[in-house]
Amino acid sequence: MTTSFPPGFRWGVATSAFQIEGATTADGRGPSIWDTFAAVPGAVAGGDTGEPAADHYHRWPDDLDLLTGLGVDAYRFSVSWPRIQPDGRSVERRGLDFYRRLVEGLRERGIEPFLTLYHWDLPQALEDEGGWRSRDTASRFADYAALVHAELGDLVEHWTTLNEPYPCAVAGYGEGRHAPGAREGDGALAAAHHLLLGHGLAVRAMRALALPHHQFGIVLNQSPSVPVTDSAADAAAAARQDTLLRRQFTDPLFGGRYAPGLPAMFDGVSDFAFRHDEDLSIIGEPLDYLGVNYYYRLHVADAPHREPDPALRTVTDIGVDTTRLPDVPRTGMGWPVEPEGLTEALVGLHNRYPGLPPVYITENGCVYADRSDFADYERINFLGDHIEAAGAAAAAGVDLRGYFCWSLLDNFEWAHGYKHRFGLVHVDYATQERTPRASYRWYRDFITAQRTP
Ligand code: FCB
Repeated sequence: MTTSFPPGFRWGVATSAFQIEGATTADGRGPSIWDTFAAVPGAVAGGDTGEPAADHYHRWPDDLDLLTGLGVDAYRFSVSWPRIQPDGRSVERRGLDFYRRLVEGLRERGIEPFLTLYHWDLPQALEDEGGWRSRDTASRFADYAALVHAELGDLVEHWTTLNEPYPCAVAGYGEGRHAPGAREGDGALAAAHHLLLGHGLAVRAMRALALPHHQFGIVLNQSPSVPVTDSAADAAAAARQDTLLRRQFTDPLFGGRYAPGLPAMFDGVSDFAFRHDEDLSIIGEPLDYLGVNYYYRLHVADAPHREPDPALRTVTDIGVDTTRLPDVPRTGMGWPVEPEGLTEALVGLHNRYPGLPPVYITENGCVYADRSDFADYERINFLGDHIEAAGAAAAAGVDLRGYFCWSLLDNFEWAHGYKHRFGLVHVDYATQERTPRASYRWYRDFITAQRTP
């Protein structure tokens, strides 16, 4: 590895509550939209659910020891909203106590907690009232954020509001591929807007009572869109895809405006009446960091709309074809391996938004077919090449502060269930035995080498 990173650069790993905790009915936890969705036949591969996951709710001390063994100085995890507010309003003390023990455990081990408030597990009770389609959910989220912040602010400095609002809105309310499984046009666009509004309201609410060293941020997935040819039609298709996936979020967060082009793409689908005058300034509340999740680039061709009548279109029917992949290696998910897309994503953000806050890579990782000896050399190559691509972005001027590998443990990979294994540590779901893979030792040695002058 030729790249070097500045002193103080954070090396970490990431997880999320629903994907690892299990214990979905323990200690007063209420149902989330992912519990409900996973119970729908055919919604999740193999009929998998949030049980048992990695049973992290009971095994967290062992998992924190795995972090110590890895030598990371930061750990990104999420708080399960339905553990804290089982019905979206009342407060469950046992949920708060669980996360207090967790962050105390991290602090005792000298590991910096990077807390995410929302990694897709909305309390089902709030979905029953409209979920993210409803403006009120944004206020409920701000109340929840303020509650967790008041409880853990003495131990946690880094506060992330949302993980990847794009799939929450588009896969969840547009494609129906994720919870809550809706296939809507206006509903998905409203969900995207209310997620952003909830983010801004949450930052304001937490900042009002924050300690001076507290940092607030958001995590966005950033797949750059590349046109498959140099035709004007493909370029326009790639621009539409980029507007839906990235600029719908980054323009109001960092550019002080709604993404131009979005209303024209959804003419007949939405009148955007969910946007109120005051919203843009709330959403644009200044941030201390941006988290970028990077897995792959999208290769985009122009294509006819599936539904000819604009008024009947779902949010994903934007006249693009993203199935024409380049001739490059793919991961076990079928995702093209293109580390240069990470450099492109980071440098692109840096160039487009002059006021962009410092950046962390908050997720990057892969799956490959597992070997019985857990010698996952493809993962090692993948991580090494992407870390190098991150270094290239830093060398090009991006204020990059850290890198978090996805993920510490094998876990519930959403609609794919337990089949795909992203962990540096293998989990046997029947026995809950943890076995570090070769990539765990590689990352440990890599981090040690980074710290050695
Ligand atoms: C991201 C999610 C994360 C994980 C990875 C593979 O989009 O944030 O929970 O599922 O993909």
